[in-house]
Amino acid sequence: MLDHLKALPPDPILGILAAYKLDTNPRKIDLGIGVYRDESGETPMLESVVRAEKIMIAKQTSKTYLGPPGVTGFNSAISRLIFGEALAESAGDRIVTVQTPGGTGALRVAADLVQTANPGSTVWMSDPTWGNHLAIFPAAGLKNSSYPYFDKASNALRFDDMMAALALRGPQDTVLFHACCHNPCGVSPTPEQWEKITDLAAERGFLPLVDMAYQGFENSLEEDNLAVRLFSEKCPELIVASSCSKNFAVYRDRVGAISILTKRAEQSAAVETVIHSLTRKNYSMPPAHGPAVIDIILHDAGLESLWREEVKSMRQRINGLRGELVRKIAEQGIERDFSFLQRQSGMFSFMGLEVSEVRALRDQFSIYTVDSARVNIASLNEGNMDYFVQSLASVLSSSGH
Ligand code: LMR
Repeated sequence: MLDHLKALPPDPILGILAAYKLDTNPRKIDLGIGVYRDESGETPMLESVVRAEKIMIAKQTSKTYLGPPGVTGFNSAISRLIFGEALAESAGDRIVTVQTPGGTGALRVAADLVQTANPGSTVWMSDPTWGNHLAIFPAAGLKNSSYPYFDKASNALRFDDMMAALALRGPQDTVLFHACCHNPCGVSPTPEQWEKITDLAAERGFLPLVDMAYQGFENSLEEDNLAVRLFSEKCPELIVASSCSKNFAVYRDRVGAISILTKRAEQSAAVETVIHSLTRKNYSMPPAHGPAVIDIILHDAGLESLWREEVKSMRQRINGLRGELVRKIAEQGIERDFSFLQRQSGMFSFMGLEVSEVRALRDQFSIYTVDSARVNIASLNEGNMDYFVQSLASVLSSSGH
């Protein structure tokens, strides 16, 4: 039965990581996969997480199943973080949050939920979007389509084109948004633009699905959920797929959540039973470790404030690197204007390179980016930035750009 299956090409992001690992050049730089790195190039555990893990291990007395909702303290605390205290209070009985294995797990459960509610319907995604988005929704039986988002010429948002495309969507459609730190382009709508997008969602009646994988990495934990708050205030229904991978740096522990807002408390309770049925036939029971640790952090004032400081310092480091990179590129005498990097946010930006230039960076300098020239800015540091900028200058000058 399996004999006819052919080997598939590597995932565009994970393939880069595999190639980087095999490279023996000591100066190699991995600007591919989206993990935060510190000044020494490591992805450290957060101190708040390390301390909470010790508490969790000391308290843990059993590894029996958690049951479908998972760690309920995590669900309620993460709901407050995602929606903000005020909304979690006022709309609390209309919101259901269930832990999932990572943000991708949340997206897949969201896809299964939409497929259950509206089989074969279309999910509209920004052009471009995270590559895995394109795979997740069809895997659940849904169709993909896209709306304009990023303008390569100006490195900015195609806001008018996006609004014109979304004005054609209606109650049969699901529209996927990135809450902040857009992956891959780093461009977010302004608060005024979010007001207009959310007004349009209310007017047109499409279902917003917000992917929030980087809360705290753009402006602050409180500001980065603006889209979630505005959709919740204006629209009767909303799905949020959130991740703790980046803001708690618990990537491999796979911690995320799906949150659903419906019109009425009874409807949310009904949707929760559907979620439990979907996860039961997918992975049966949720994992405990990561959510139990985060539950401890978010219910301990000292640990929570330590964690908030740690998120802030990751954000500030990335923003600092963006400024430093723009400065060094200009100092190097590269004529092309890269100042847009400083106007974008989060770990990712497009460098606007041709595939041949991406390949030249990889083959000649062991600098690995995704083929789209998406770079993870957080992988840069004092020790490798000059090498990156010099290599970039060399590649751009030999390609005549
Ligand atoms: C990325 O875009 O690099 C991250 O979200 C990690 C991944 O799984 O692709």
